[in-house]
Parts: sequence; C-alpha cells; structure tokens
Amino acid sequence: MPCTVLNQPPTLGSRCQCQAAALLRTANLDAPRPVRYDAPVSLSLQPLVPNLQPPPMHPWIAARTARFDSSGIRKVFELARSLKDPINLSIGQPDFEVPAEVRRSAIDAIESGKNGYSPSQGMPVLRDKLQAQVDAEFGHADRQVFVTSGTSGALVMAMMALVNPGDEVILFDPYFVMYAPLLELVDGKAVIVDTYPTFAIDVDRVRAAITPRTKAILLNSPANPTGYVATDAEVRALANLAAEKNVCLISDEIYRPFCYDGPFATPAKYNDQTLVIDGFSKSHAMTGWRVGYAHGPSAVIDTMIKLQQFTFVCSPQPAQWAAATAIDIDIASHIADYRRKRDRFIDGIRDSYEVQTPGGAFYAFPKVPQGSGTDFVARAVKEESLLVIPGGIFSQRDTHFRVSYAATDATIDRGIEALLRLAGQ
Ligand SMILES: Cc1ncc(COP(=O)(O)O)c(C=O)c1O
Repeated sequence: MPCTVLNQPPTLGSRCQCQAAALLRTANLDAPRPVRYDAPVSLSLQPLVPNLQPPPMHPWIAARTARFDSSGIRKVFELARSLKDPINLSIGQPDFEVPAEVRRSAIDAIESGKNGYSPSQGMPVLRDKLQAQVDAEFGHADRQVFVTSGTSGALVMAMMALVNPGDEVILFDPYFVMYAPLLELVDGKAVIVDTYPTFAIDVDRVRAAITPRTKAILLNSPANPTGYVATDAEVRALANLAAEKNVCLISDEIYRPFCYDGPFATPAKYNDQTLVIDGFSKSHAMTGWRVGYAHGPSAVIDTMIKLQQFTFVCSPQPAQWAAATAIDIDIASHIADYRRKRDRFIDGIRDSYEVQTPGGAFYAFPKVPQGSGTDFVARAVKEESLLVIPGGIFSQRDTHFRVSYAATDATIDRGIEALLRLAGQ
C-alpha cells in the first residue's frame, strides 16, 4: 500500500513514515501505576500494529520470556535505519571514536595471538590494574574485582548471584531499561521508588519500601535516562540505610566519568559491602567490545565468577588487552565537550519544555508538552524525522522522553529546532 504521507510505496525492507509512526503507537501508559507490582510491566513500544494481537506463543518457548517485550530502544534503532536523514538523538553511546591507542592495543593483541579464552575472572593485565585502582580508592580489606562481558554481563551475574525467586529489588523510577526484565528472568520482584519530578533520591521513600523480602537496592548514578547525578549526601544516606538493613546496594557506575557540575559520589566509599558495576562501553566508546567489571565482597564476586564460567565464559581477550590500555587514557577533553553539548541542548529547549538540567551521563529527560510520551515520540518521528525515546520504556509513567546529546553540534541544533516546532503546536 502506498504511504499516505509521502505517497510512495515503502521499499522492501524499509519503512515509510506512516509505518514508522504506527511502530511507535502503543497502549496508553499515561497514568502512573502502583508503586509495587507483581505483574510484568510492558516496557516497550507495543503492539507494533494497532488492533493486531501478537501471534500465539510457540510451544517450545519458555514462559519467562513472555514477561517482557524486546527493548523499545531497539525499535527506535530500526526506525533510524528506515528514515531518510533522521535527526537521531536516540543513541546511548558516545559519538567520539575509540581512542587510537586502544584500537592499536586490540590489533596488537589479535596479531600476536592473544585470541584464546581468558580466565573467567579476566586477564591479569586488566584485572590487576583494576584491582590496584580499586584498592587505592577504597582500601577495603575484602573488595575483589573481576572482568565481565560488558556492564550488562556484570548486571546479569549480579542478579543471578543475589536474587532468589520472590526476592525484592528496589529500583528508582525512571530506571535503565534492562533492570526490570533482568529481574523477571530471575523471578525477582521490582519495587519501584518514584523519583519524579526532580529525580533526586529520597532515602525516606527507600526506607518505606524495604520489607523482609528486600534483597537489594539498584542505584544508577549518573543515571540513564535522566542524567541525574546523586549527591554525596544522598549516596551516603543510601549506603548507610543498606548497611543498617543488611541489603545489598548495587551501584551501576557506567557513566561515572560523565559528571559535569561536581565530583562523582560512590556509595562504596560509605558502605564496604557495596557491589559496584562499571565498564568501558561509555568512558571509551567501546560499546561493541564487551568489557565491563564488578567489584565487591569476595564471596559475592566468587559466585559471580562461577556463574560467568558457565554462561558468558569471559570477556573477549583482545578487548581486555585494549581495556588495559584504555585505563591510562585521559578522556577529560571528551567530558568537557559533553558538558558543552549538555548546555547547548538544555539552553536550546529550556524555554519550551519542562526539563531538569542533567548533571551527568549524556541524556536529558524532558516532560512532553501535552499527551503521552509515546504519542509525542510518534509525532516527532512522523513530522520531524526526530528520533528520541518515549519515557514509558524506562518508567511506570509515560510523560517524558529521553534525548541523547551524544551527537554532533549540527544534529543537536537540528533536534532543538524540531523540538521547538513540536512544542509550538
Ligand atoms: C545504566 C546502564 N547500565 C549498563 C549498561 C550496559 O552497558 P554495556 O554496554 O557495558 O553492557 C548501560 C548501557 O546503555 C547503561 O545505560
């Protein structure tokens, strides 16, 4: 059928803008949902085609896989491929190149035959450097490091190592898109602590959410999708609460270097049992290389290593040699550049959108002027070829949208112009 917007037949394997908008149409997620939930929450842009039920599940497929949909972010990536010259502010990875020395190290590793399995806990060349760095920062008697297959790999191992069926894990809403499905996979239960409208951590709310089934609190600062950076006071209070209640505090610090208005605060400074998750994907633009790491109490880390042995096996060896080089590379100029991009974007939309100035990461999370986040993003795609992510993917609410300003200044400026037009209607 021809596309009614462009009056063109969609080409094979691509989508026209009408279809793009249909892709983004979804159930109304507008109303805030209850704070605690047992039922799985749909996090993504579904159904893809309105009024069509998903096909019945193939009899071989395990029931646990039906508790969540595939990431809505990936669907926006698909749109990016199908639109002509989109304004793409949807991508959660740096727009700078992997540093040349890091690329060289990977090539040297490959050329010199460092291509086999690594030990499950990581290559000594990387692990020893990370351990020395962690020991110098914290000086904890029992803090052990191991290398994971990306930060995601560390998150998977952490959930598998810690969460029994029915255990509760406290998440701050909005939360990184992977957290809730990972909990579903281990039969855990997400307990949501709402942080709108400022995204600050209210420790009294966390205290109220703790029950005898609480196993862990999952903190992500600087945060995806809001860019919020938890203050030292918030982090300290949370660390003390976790110690008082004997729950595990998991700290996802993947955006740690991307702090623009003050120093980064880690709860591990105040609670020596904190499980820290980190990696090279964002700091050195190595998203495709799959090198992350975790550090925490040795009993937890040993269990995670045991699980890694029978799942991911190891992080790719050449990438580990490259990461060992990356540790010594100064990325301050990139951070300064992203601070400037943050200001450029926020200054550009501040008068037309309700938006918190993000202190870190490379995201902003403005409120939509009216309607749901999903409808707003569908309009942005259809009318402006602007790709941003509807906030309902990261949240119980569908009232905001995520912008990644990890883009060229020209793309950011085009995005601002498109957003101003969208707000003006
Ligand atoms: C908060 C957060 N944690 C973890 C990850 C996963 O990172 P990796 O690519 O190292 O698996 C991401 C990636 O976007 C993220 O935003």
